[in-house]
Amino acid sequence: MAEFFLENKTIIVFLHVISAVVWVGGMIAMRYAAHQSFLQIESPGQRLERIAYGLKRLFSIVLPFVILLIITAVIMLKGYDLSHTDFAPLGHAKEGIWSIMFINLIVMIKRRNRAERALGDSDVMLAKTQLEFIGKYQVPANIILGVIAIFLGTYLSSNI
Ligand code: HEM
Repeated sequence: MAEFFLENKTIIVFLHVISAVVWVGGMIAMRYAAHQSFLQIESPGQRLERIAYGLKRLFSIVLPFVILLIITAVIMLKGYDLSHTDFAPLGHAKEGIWSIMFINLIVMIKRRNRAERALGDSDVMLAKTQLEFIGKYQVPANIILGVIAIFLGTYLSSNI
């Protein structure tokens, strides 16, 4: 694995970084650009429908990159033999952050699906509470965790 990593280091680090860009950047664009625009729609049903659809598109775009991020992370863990270096705690911290972000993403996907079903049943209140929770807490939490992971990555790449 170490040999494979050293031979393909540039492309592996590139795939790792681009995955973080799409995942974290996608959430920021959705929460602070697209969402503000959706709020201009007056009809609550239509507004929630647009938000649910926007989130569906976002989640389907980021999911392959989330997987690519962990694959490249594992290759780098083995390639640098990170667990046997002074940087082991940072590697574990990043694994922990990825795991929390991933679980949070899966819960968001389930919550969004519940909101979509509620909209189908004309239960606008339920759809609103589900989507509000995603926008108010879950997306911002993943943005903060993602920014911390990026900082730790920058620290690793300048000291490793
Ligand atoms: C799953 C556990 C993770 C491990 C073991 C890990 C490991 C690493 C390592 C070893 C580097 C340095 C690469 C090099 O320069 O050769 C790095 C860089 C980076 N990581 Fe991670 N990472 C993980 C998760 C994440 C997550 C969740 C994100 C963001 C969502 C992230 C974003 C970045 C970025 C942006 C860099 C590049 C920083 C730079 O080049 O200045 N990583 N990571």
